[in-house]
Order: sequence, then C-alpha cells, then structure tokens
Amino acid sequence: MQYGYFDDEAKEYVITRPDTPTSWSNYLGSTEYGAVITNNAGGYGFYKSGAQGRFMRLRFNSIPMDQPGRYFYLRDMESGDYWSASWQPVGKPLDKFKSECRHGTAYTKITSEYEGIKSETKYYVPLGQTFEYWRLKVTNTGSKKRKLRAFSYCEFSNQWNTTQDQVNLQYSIFIVKGEKSAPNMLRYSIHENLYIQHQKNPAINDYMSEWIALAGAPMTGFDTSREAFIGTYGNYKEPAAVLKGECSNSEAFGDNSCGTVQADIELNPGETKEIMVLLGIGDANVEGKKTVEEFGTFERADQEFEKLIKNWHSKLNSFSAVTPDEDINHTVNMWGLYNCLITFAWSRAASLVYNGERDGLGYRDSVQDILGVSAAIPQEAEERLVRLLSGQFSNGGALPVISKDFEAGKQKMIPAEKFRSDDCQWFFNAVPCFVAETGNFDFFNRVVPYADKGEDTVYGHLKQALLFNLERMGKDGLPCGLLADWNDCLKLGYHGESLFVAFQLRLGLTTYADISKRLGKNDEADWALSERKKLDENIQKKCWDGKWFIWAIAEDGTVYGTQSIEEGQIYFNTQVWSVLSGAATPEQMKTCLESVKEKLATPYGLMLCAPPFIYASRDIMSSVVYLPGIKENAGIFNHTQGWGIIAEIMNGNGDRAYEYCKAALPATYNTKAEIRQSEPYVIGQTTYSTYSKRPGNTRVSWLSGAATWNYYSITQYMLGIRPQYNGLLIDPCIKHDWDGFKVERRWRKMNLHIEVKNPSHVSKGIEYIEIDGKRIDSSTIPAELLKDGSTIIAVMGKNALPVENERM
Ligand code: GLC
Repeated sequence: MQYGYFDDEAKEYVITRPDTPTSWSNYLGSTEYGAVITNNAGGYGFYKSGAQGRFMRLRFNSIPMDQPGRYFYLRDMESGDYWSASWQPVGKPLDKFKSECRHGTAYTKITSEYEGIKSETKYYVPLGQTFEYWRLKVTNTGSKKRKLRAFSYCEFSNQWNTTQDQVNLQYSIFIVKGEKSAPNMLRYSIHENLYIQHQKNPAINDYMSEWIALAGAPMTGFDTSREAFIGTYGNYKEPAAVLKGECSNSEAFGDNSCGTVQADIELNPGETKEIMVLLGIGDANVEGKKTVEEFGTFERADQEFEKLIKNWHSKLNSFSAVTPDEDINHTVNMWGLYNCLITFAWSRAASLVYNGERDGLGYRDSVQDILGVSAAIPQEAEERLVRLLSGQFSNGGALPVISKDFEAGKQKMIPAEKFRSDDCQWFFNAVPCFVAETGNFDFFNRVVPYADKGEDTVYGHLKQALLFNLERMGKDGLPCGLLADWNDCLKLGYHGESLFVAFQLRLGLTTYADISKRLGKNDEADWALSERKKLDENIQKKCWDGKWFIWAIAEDGTVYGTQSIEEGQIYFNTQVWSVLSGAATPEQMKTCLESVKEKLATPYGLMLCAPPFIYASRDIMSSVVYLPGIKENAGIFNHTQGWGIIAEIMNGNGDRAYEYCKAALPATYNTKAEIRQSEPYVIGQTTYSTYSKRPGNTRVSWLSGAATWNYYSITQYMLGIRPQYNGLLIDPCIKHDWDGFKVERRWRKMNLHIEVKNPSHVSKGIEYIEIDGKRIDSSTIPAELLKDGSTIIAVMGKNALPVENERM
C-alpha cells in the first residue's frame, strides 16, 4: 500500500493519504527551539530540552498516538459544519475530505479540500528564533460566498518539566494562568515562579511563559482555558467552542490552558485569505510584542521561510546523486542526510517515542553521529567532537551521557563498574572521518581537557582510549565487557569478555598506528602494532567457532554465540566487525559472511542474533526481556545494517551489499507501507524480524545510530566516495548491472562533479580516473589535483587499480 511519494526536486515527502499506518512525523526548529509535527499536525514543542523545556504538550503513547498538536479548526458559520485543516483531529470521511501533507526541511505543509474550501497550513520556526509560525491560507473553490470561522488550538504544558507536568498534578494544575494581553495576543505564565528557581537544569532556568498572537485578521474571540474550549466532556474531535461556534474568551486560572485564537474569514467565490499564528516562548508583553512587531507580516514570514529553506538545502546539497535506483536517490539526496542532521541535533531525546527522558548526549551514539554529518556541517561536527572528547575521563573511559550542564575538568570519576567498554572506541571511526573530510590534520594536535582532570591532544585522547581497554582485559586476553558493550543488553559481568570490543580495539590500534606514522611517531606505531598482534593471537585462539566468530565470553566462562547452544547461536556484530576491523582471515571472512546470509538475513534486514533468547538468564542477556524477534532479541536492529553493507563491500560483493541495503532501506517500503508501517522516508531503530509475529514492522523512527550508518555506508562505501587524509578515494562497490552513477559532492569547500562509469558491469574496481580531462592511475585523487568545480570521471572495469585505503 502506498500513502505518498518522494518529491526530490522540492526536497519533500508528500503524504497523499492522511490515514497512514502510524503517525508520520517531521521536525521543525533548532536545538534552541524544537518541535515535532506529524502528518495530522499532531506533536509538541520544546525549548532547549525535550524533557526540561517542554512547553507544548503531547500525550505520549495515547490514542491516536499524536495528539494534541497544532490545530486549526474551521467552521462554516452558516451550515454549522466544521472540520480541521489537517484530517485529524476532526477526521471527516476520506471520501469527502482530501488532504496532502508535505514534510520538508524543517517545515511541514498540510493542504486540505472539503466542501468547496481549500486550506493550506504551513508550520515552521524561523532560523535562530524561539517562536513558530502557523500560517493558514483558505480558498473558496465553490460558487457561493462563504462565512468561515477559524480557531487555533494547542495545549501548553503547565510545567516545562514534562514529568512534573503530566504526573505531579497536585502541583502542576494550580499554577497556570492565561489571559488576553493585547487585542491580538494571549499571554500564558506560571503564577508561582519559586519552583523553577530550584530546578537543577540551569540551561532552562527561564521564566516559563508563552504567548500566542494572531496576524492578518482581528481576533474575534479566544480561549486560554482548555476546559472552556474543549468542554468538560468534549474532545479534540468535537471541541465545545467549535460546536457552539464561538469561544468564550476564557482566562485560564489553574487546571489547564490552551492556545485558541478565533478569526472570521469571509470568502467570495475564488477568493483566498491568509491569517497566521505566531507562537513563542517568553512574556507576551515583552518577547511576544517584539516578535509580532518584527515578524508579524506575511512579507517577513515569507522571507523567513526562504531563508530557512536556503539554509537547509545548502547543507543537503553537500552530497547528491543520480543512481539507477530511485530509493537510493531519495535517501542520498535528502532523507538520509536530513535524518542524520536531526539525529545529530536531538540525539535520542525528542520524538513520538522519546519523551525527553534521554536528555543530553548519549556517549557512544553521539560519537557515531559524527560520521553522518561531517561533510554537511563540519564546524558543528568539530565542536561536538571536542565536547565528546572532553567527556572522556583521564583514564580513557567515558561518561555515559554528557548532560547539558556538563563542564570539562569538573566531573567526578564514575564507579569502575559503570563504564561501558565501547564508548571511546568509536573515536577511531569518527575522528579520522572528520579529519579526512576537512583536511584538518592538525586536529590530532588540538589540546582538549578530560572530563575529570588534565588535558591532552586529541592524539593523546585516542591513546588513552586504547589503554582503557588494554588495561581491562579478561582472562583470555580480550577486552572486558564492563557494564555493556555496544549492546546494552549484554551483561557478561565486569570481567566477561566482549569480542565486539576486541574487534573495535583492533581497528583502533590499526588506526592509531597509521596516525602515529603520519605524525612521525614510529615508536607509538610499533607499540600499537605489537599490541594488535597479541590481540589477534588471542582472537584466533579462542573466538573462531568453525563457521563464525563467537559473541562473547561471560565472567563464568560461558561462551555466547556458539553452535552448541540453542539461543543466540550466532551474533551479527562480531561477524561483520571481524571484517571491518581486518581481524578475519580471507577464509574466515567468506565463511562468516556466508553464515550471516544463511542464518541472519531476512527480507527486511539482518537480524542481530538468532535464534532469540527465551530461557537465558536475564543477568547475562537482558535482551530476554524483549519479545522474540524484536530489538536486541533477534530483531533487526537497524543501527547495525550499515555494518553488514560495509562488510560485504569489503568482501567485494556489491550485489549482496545492495540486497542488504535495499532490504532495510525505508524508501524500499514506500509502495508497501503496510509492512513497515513507519515513515518510508526515515529510519527506525528496530524492525520486527521473522522470529516475531509481525515481521517487517518498524519502530522508533528518526533518532537512531541507524541514520548515520545507513547514510555513511551508502555514500562512502557503496558509492565509495571516501575522503582520505590526502585525497579523495573513489572506490564504489555497486550492483554489477548498474551502468554507473553521478554524484555532486562538497569536499573541503570544493564542489565536485563526479561520474562513475561501469561499461563492463563489474561490482567493484576502478581502472582509471580523469580529473578535468587529466588521467591518473590511482583510485585516490590527490587533494592538490582538485579545485572547485572539478569534473571527475572514474571508469570501473576488470583491470582494477589497487586501493590504498587509508582509513575506515
Ligand atoms: C540503542 C542505544 C545504543 C545501543 C543500542 C544497542 O540504540 O541507543 O546506545 O548501542 O541500543 O543496545
């Protein structure tokens, strides 16, 4: 079933049927002022933090899943009929109500047609501002004059701390006040401001107040009391004021508030009129007044919209491609990167699933997020990287989460058993990726403080990351799993050993040796390579199970991921990371990747392990809490799919990499949305596998490491345009029958036009490259040969050039 299509030209996903299988959402705003909005205008808003700055309310996990939101109700004042400008919440029958939603770059546009009235609502937050526009354009497409009344609606939180707001009602329902403060403006405030001063989060230590204003028409009524607007026994579908046809000009005094301004719109046949709501935080008499004075005209609102689009499109234009596969094009040209940028901004803190409780930067996730955004926003990536490096303790381990008020150098050391084993190993992916992208090799020499005390160069931080794991080895000479490795559900006991981290450490040692040589520190390179040799020996001694690598060794000696056990016999991560790290012999690589194909591949992606855990002890494998076939318990964990693609690419199998890529790619499901259910334009953390009763259903949209690895594996490995320290490697690995593809890529401030030709239909292998007509016999183009506007033609073929791959 299909509910919409990709409009790549406009950089929008267009939802043509509003009754999508789940709410399909988008993001507005920035990390200062953010918003989630769905195809039915559901959602919420937050200032700086989804948890601490939640000024607009959404009832999580409710029915429907996305209410309330940012609504316009329209009422025909003659017939008394009414509807909403988005299909929901009124939900008129779909044979009479047509609706289209365009989710774009930090804006959402919803049009509707009902009984001769066309409406268009457009929602966005201007760049750098802490308010939002809701613009409503109404057209009379019929032949008689119409008298309409429009009502806006949203629910302001009583308390910006979302838990206080929704749970501590004995406090939160007694503090809210709403009033009319100017002819077209409503003011909301919290009466008692003492509480907030005792809040721990200084980032949000603001006076909790909001305002809503109407522009383009006089306000003919209003409601600030939710009870007055909705009615004691009313609901969003049938609000009392809309049924009645007028607001009661209520001023909330305790209980709950709402943002309702009322405007009258008379339309001659063919006539269009526009009104707009401006809604923001701050005092109506100060910030509200100032904002409306400056931004309250349609001309200004148009300009702000243009600015917003330009800004986002310029980031997205850092990479675009035309390949024979439309789904890959949609991903690469807009949604893959947009998803990475949103995930980078909000980490795992605010969506229809994340209620803000995971505030701050989860360490390992945030380090990985760098990979997806380095090309588009190198400066922000650098700032984030430095912040993350400063969340590393001087012992080489990391804070689990970097909170908003984190200050480097002042952090108390966490207890030994709280360290995760993988956190800082992700730097060996992220830092080289960033340096190769920007060419800023000096970044390795930049001095960054540690979380607790002292400071070191980035290079020094990397060494500490290695030492952290090398100093915490188990009895078989593999890194201890500590609290957990990448897999939060793995609880091996502090001294249990993680093979996944062993592979990460191997990659780390290789990467460190390479950087050391480049910095002229040959002793350090020798040290890293000798540690790697020892590690390799231990891996080979203990971890090959005949057809695949084991998973882990628990503290009590139990081996996980071996053929002789029934649950979790094979684990995905250790197979693909044996390849990514270079630890697998060529023979092992082939064998274990075949095992992945045989035991873990499904039509919807690659399972994390198989068979699922049912009887295992929860102390060691807490994934047993999940239903079989979901999340870490033999589900398709989308975060890992990119690793499967990269491993097959390293194996030279472009057809299989493509097959894996397509199986888990959201866009693949655009025409069969009933299977995936979630948005076909963004990733989801997890997909139910064939061990479950609902294979293919995907959950936890938007915020996941899947965003980074999906985009990164396609752009840098499948299309193979991978920056190196000194040049640009062109090393695609594609479906063999592709004739080639074209890419426009921004690299080190140069716009490059790249064309890859595949006349002999190979999957991999570049025979020669021409740069502005000049041929070179290397698959890495030296940076000095490139200039802004350069044209690169890379020809694939059987007589492939060797690949000097300098970084992963
Ligand atoms: C979630 C967590 C991530 C973890 C993964 C596997 O995605 O955010 O940190 O690595 O689960 O357990």
